[in-house]
Amino acid sequence: MQRIGPTTRLCGVILHPAGHTRSPAMHNAAFRALGIDAVYLAFDVLPEALGPALAGARALGVRQLAVSLPHKLAVMQHLDEVDATARRIGAVNTVTVRDGRLMGDNTDWTGAVRALERETALAGREAVVLGAGGAARAVVYGLLERGARVRVLNRTPERAAALARELGADAGAGLEALGERDFDVLVNTTSVGLRSQDSPVPADRIEAGTVVLDAVYDPPRTRLLQDAEARGARTVGGKWMLVHQAAEQLRLWTGCEAPVEEMARAFDLAG
Ligand code: ATR
Repeated sequence: MQRIGPTTRLCGVILHPAGHTRSPAMHNAAFRALGIDAVYLAFDVLPEALGPALAGARALGVRQLAVSLPHKLAVMQHLDEVDATARRIGAVNTVTVRDGRLMGDNTDWTGAVRALERETALAGREAVVLGAGGAARAVVYGLLERGARVRVLNRTPERAAALARELGADAGAGLEALGERDFDVLVNTTSVGLRSQDSPVPADRIEAGTVVLDAVYDPPRTRLLQDAEARGARTVGGKWMLVHQAAEQLRLWTGCEAPVEEMARAFDLAG
């Protein structure tokens, strides 16, 4: 732990219930590596306390708050400004305080595209996104923004269709449609595989050379990633989405390039 003194600045993550978050580990590791005089804490904020929590953050001169579930939508009404991208995605995961003003951004989409870009360029690629919840919205936005062609598949096909229509992806469909069309990139944003050995799709639908990203990070090697590897695909763990979205948050308030490898190590150690 770095020394805390009168000039130390405060950042944190707001979430409820408290549960487990690796954000403090990642951000404090980044502060240490970059010599930034700041600390990062986790705050368990009840939904009805969100407004007062943000007013308090502003009054105390908190520099940045990451916004986790269940606050990503509700937080918007308490901000002075919401970035156009966050508005389009429909969620804010970052509040940065600039000159006393609360500015809302979304770095979840950046996290997803940078995680994929560890393995592949995205322009012109055929991508499939599994799921149609909040995480899917950020991933679909990011893929489209990078010039990929995107298909959304979801257990409830109507939700996939609605998301696809709204963000401008190809017509959505059910999960069973995977394999009807070739794809270069596959991203799982469903919760299937979370602390289980289930996979959202059959292994034989994944071809060699595909890049597969699983937003599920617990366990680190999900069944989907194991299947993908066995089929000769390249895989990216959900950890990288979280590390890269945190890296973008750090850039937003400090302007510094984040020490991504150190943050990833801290993420692992906090598990
Ligand atoms: P998040 O905001 O994290 O994306 P969410 O909005 O609850 O969370 O979305 C969860 C996603 O996982 C949804 O796409 C959900 O599919 P439905 O829209 O059909 O509910 C998907 N999901 C959850 N459990 C699933 C399961 N057992 N099989 C397939 N998909 C599942």
